[in-house]
Amino acid sequence: MPTISPHAAGSRAQLSAQEITVGFGSRPVLENISLCLNPASRLAVIGENGRGKSTLLQVLAGLRTPDSGHVQVNGSVGFAHQEMHFDPEATIGDLVAQATAASRLALSGLHAAAQDLASGQSGSEQRYAQALEQATALDAWDAERRVDLALQALHAETNRERKLDELSVGQRYRVRLACLLGGTDDFLLLDEPTNHLDAPSLAFLADSISGRRGAVVMVSHDRILLRRCATSFLDLDPSADGRPLAYTGDYDGYRLARMAERERWDQLYLRQQQEHAKLQQDLSAAQDRLVSGWRPPKGTGKHARATRAGSLVRSVHQRRERLESHSVDLPPAPRHFRLPVLGARPGIELLRASDLTVSGRLDTPVCLALHAGSRLVVTGPNGAGKSTLLQVLSGNLEPSRGQLHHAAALRAGYLPQESTLPAELRASDVYRQQVQRIVSRGIISAEHAVGLPELGLLRTAEAAQRIGELSMGQQRRLQLAMVLAARPHVLLLDEPTNHLSMALVDELTEALQATGAAVVLGTHDRQLLSDTGRWPRLRLESSNH
Ligand SMILES: Nc1ncnc2c1ncn2[C@@H]1O[C@H](COP(=O)(O)OP(=O)(O)OP(=O)(O)O)[C@@H](O)[C@H]1O
Ligand SMILES: [Mg+2]
Repeated sequence: MPTISPHAAGSRAQLSAQEITVGFGSRPVLENISLCLNPASRLAVIGENGRGKSTLLQVLAGLRTPDSGHVQVNGSVGFAHQEMHFDPEATIGDLVAQATAASRLALSGLHAAAQDLASGQSGSEQRYAQALEQATALDAWDAERRVDLALQALHAETNRERKLDELSVGQRYRVRLACLLGGTDDFLLLDEPTNHLDAPSLAFLADSISGRRGAVVMVSHDRILLRRCATSFLDLDPSADGRPLAYTGDYDGYRLARMAERERWDQLYLRQQQEHAKLQQDLSAAQDRLVSGWRPPKGTGKHARATRAGSLVRSVHQRRERLESHSVDLPPAPRHFRLPVLGARPGIELLRASDLTVSGRLDTPVCLALHAGSRLVVTGPNGAGKSTLLQVLSGNLEPSRGQLHHAAALRAGYLPQESTLPAELRASDVYRQQVQRIVSRGIISAEHAVGLPELGLLRTAEAAQRIGELSMGQQRRLQLAMVLAARPHVLLLDEPTNHLSMALVDELTEALQATGAAVVLGTHDRQLLSDTGRWPRLRLESSNH
């Protein structure tokens, strides 16, 4: 395990990872990754879903031992995992106490050192100087206030007594993020930190990352955050030489570098194929000469013929060996998402909501009607009831007041903000069960149900894995696939871009623009909001905040 100093190292903080390699079973995930961070680093780790970004962060945080390579850290590390595990008994106060523990320790150390100094104990001057340096590095006097400010800025619950278990997923994430952003860890590792944040919280996150004294490593599909904050990039997606692409500069520069790298790979591939074809030709020519093309001149002696034949055989062997050792590294085909044909007869009212409210969760009465091809974006601050509304519209939650009407035989596809799938089952089996379920309920006939490979969301090998072995993005892909299996007439998507790769976010956005189904989006994703800028908006206001 790496050595992690629990003490703030301030300007001397450094984290270096050398030749990190991690595999699961026989599958390599990370190979020979090296990086070095100092307090000024703002590193973005990029890569397709399942590429190993979260695994790398776990290695850097000392939570996973690599198969080979090592990590050295001088300084303290704070980590916001992509998925938040928590003790159900813990309260917000416990999280805050944890976040400020180092500061309290530093202050009590300083207090003790000051008393020693006052009573003239030997060596107390040096101890006092060290304690003062530690408290200063942590800015320990201000620790509680910083966390409080961060809690407020993220619109997080501030009541210290409340149990984490009683909070919504988004509320829990915001409390944890506030504790980390308000803290003074030398290294902050943030895995998809923008999920569950509304616009003001996103702005606070970006300001905190940019203005921080210590280093930040971020994994995010939020291009606006990367553009604003990242100053270096580590791209784990495949490249021609099998090494990750490391780039120093801004996001746009990185994108250009990535495109240039892809171009170089394509060129290399083309050249390799030409060389391969030439070697193949050489081999065929040598074989022809050996078999029939070689006619020894009349009167050539038996000895000379034997020598000549031997050299031709050698030449054929050499050419064959050269051909066999010459590999062509095909650029891997990128995965492409294909939204199945969805839709309903034009003109039919698919869904109508009249004055819907859910007490304590959705206070703004909602009236709406959806037809084939309708578009709607539900906006509003954290806690305004967007998820509640989508849940009600899907028929999964009873409203307290108002009415919901679904057209007869309506197929509504609902993607919840967060949901869990059985970790021990294989992705393909869970998908098959979903199809069986919708077919047996008569929602769709077996021949019209969508097959998993048709969607381009998971590769065959990924579909064969157990869900617990899939990355968060791969799990989200499976959930999206399960929603699409029944060819819904209405898509109710709650934060659909959470955990998805940037490439898939683009493909999904494009597909949603074009589909014949009605689409209702609940999202804070700034890119998605701007890409769906022409869609009608339904803004919910919160009475809690
Ligand atoms: N416990 C495990 N057993 C087997 N394979 C695993 C396990 N955990 C992760 N993997 C595999 O390791 C790979 C990398 O996973 P990781 O979570 O690091 O990806 P990621 O880049 O963070 O993806 P995402 O963008 O979806 O968050 C994935 O292909 C995943 O299937
Ligand atoms: Mg991940």
